[in-house]
Amino acid sequence: MTVNGGSGIGRRQALGVAGVAACGVALAACGESGPRQAPGIKGKEIAKTADVPVGGGTVVKKYRIVVAQPSEGVFKAYGAACPHRGCAVSVPKDNVMTCPCHGSEFDARTGTATRGPATGKLVSYEVKVEGDGIVVV
Ligand code: FES
Repeated sequence: MTVNGGSGIGRRQALGVAGVAACGVALAACGESGPRQAPGIKGKEIAKTADVPVGGGTVVKKYRIVVAQPSEGVFKAYGAACPHRGCAVSVPKDNVMTCPCHGSEFDARTGTATRGPATGKLVSYEVKVEGDGIVVV
């Protein structure tokens, strides 16, 4: 394989291939499979408010989403896939979601990584309360 050569693949392409391979290995190591984010969730009820305690939350495996209630009446929803290598983060505890693979932590109020190796944020979904359910907007 030629990197930076005239007729070979470029450096970015090589890094992209390596990244995909590493992600696949990480997913297998984590026992995860299937899509990273479930499509078509807009307008769907993803949890009941009663199942999401203040400071805690729930993982909705069907959609690979974590629903949190960082403060009374404030609900947040995030894709469960860790931005480091894709493992599913835990149920929030004391407003912290932890990735079991390499120990990254995320703030349940914002989805932002507060401890690495992950950087950045979890994918967030806008939600609203309808009756006793939490619905993706
Ligand atoms: Fe490595 Fe989450 S996959 S910290």
